[in-house]
Amino acid sequence: MPEAPLVLGIETSCDETGVALVRAHPDRSELLVDTVASSMEEHARFGGIIPEIASRAHLEAMVPTIERALDSAGVTLHDVDAVAVTAGPGLVGSLTVGTAAAKALAYGLDVPLYGVNHVIGHAAVAELVDGLFPDRIMALVVSGGHSSLLLVDDIVTGVHELGSTLDDAAGEAFDKVGRLLGLPYPGGPHIDRLAREGDPTAIRFPRGLTAAKDQEKHAYDFSFSGLKTAVARWVEAREDAGEQIPLADVSASFAAAVADVLTAKTIAACRRHGVSTLVVGGGFSANSQLREMAAERCAAAGITLRIPPLRYCTDNGAMIAALGAAVVRRGLPPSSFTIPADSTMPLETVTI
Ligand code: KG4
Ligand code: ZN
Repeated sequence: MPEAPLVLGIETSCDETGVALVRAHPDRSELLVDTVASSMEEHARFGGIIPEIASRAHLEAMVPTIERALDSAGVTLHDVDAVAVTAGPGLVGSLTVGTAAAKALAYGLDVPLYGVNHVIGHAAVAELVDGLFPDRIMALVVSGGHSSLLLVDDIVTGVHELGSTLDDAAGEAFDKVGRLLGLPYPGGPHIDRLAREGDPTAIRFPRGLTAAKDQEKHAYDFSFSGLKTAVARWVEAREDAGEQIPLADVSASFAAAVADVLTAKTIAACRRHGVSTLVVGGGFSANSQLREMAAERCAAAGITLRIPPLRYCTDNGAMIAALGAAVVRRGLPPSSFTIPADSTMPLETVTI
């Protein structure tokens, strides 16, 4: 019997060069290897990702990362049956390096190329962990760049965007609050750690877009910039009064506000659409306050919660190879060799 198709996945939307190999069996996706090189350390001193540095780092890391992935899986390029690559959304320079590499490989090997959506990849990666998705799932994708709620009837042909952030993504809000609290970049994990020591009910911070008037147009959208401003005002007022800032309580109350809004809206959407499986993905799903509240509320609502292990939640090649495997399994036509790097790729577009 011939082996199931071997999909090489390449991810370069931000600062991680991810390369992975996934075998697309008819009834499951099998991860053979997942390798990643990150340029995060080169950005940390600037307090944010510098696109030019990220693009150059991808260029330098691409070939060695591919070689490392092939070596660890004990295969050669000639065993690859398809190449999947992040076509967007993301930083255009970074995406260009990945798509150019993927096109060259697919062309040289004479195998199909699939340009796929990064955000949907954050959901698709869960198929590598607990098996292929049931008919209908809800996916909450939260990271430094995106906070989106997706109703997924089919991970390849039926992704519907129910809502997104209107301003800052969840991780971005954490990083901005981290900066105003004087924490190192990225602030998210530092706030998480501090929050574990604090009282989440100490300060009642606002819950964006949860008022009755927002239910019609923005029931499933998120907004964290008002919350961020509320934290800034609260901290400034204490500083002006010469008081110490209770970092743990501020962090815990802020983190609770974010987790509360994300989980309340997501579970309301699951109920409204009769969905009983929730997948949470993206770098911000590392957040312990979100994980705890999601676990509690899903259990209470009878919803099965699937959060992949942390290494598959941050940007990686496995998520792109997993989505590529789903596309191959469905037999969709390949992408053209002229696909662009689409920095604003719409969330309902799975492949281009
Ligand atoms: O997915 P990711 O690695 O990169 C993007 O695609 O944005 O997500 C990184 C984001 C950063 O904003 C980081 O501060 C945040 O996720 N983050 C966290 C935690 N771990 C990472 N935020 C809160 N708590 C955490 N434990
Ligand atoms: Zn991401």
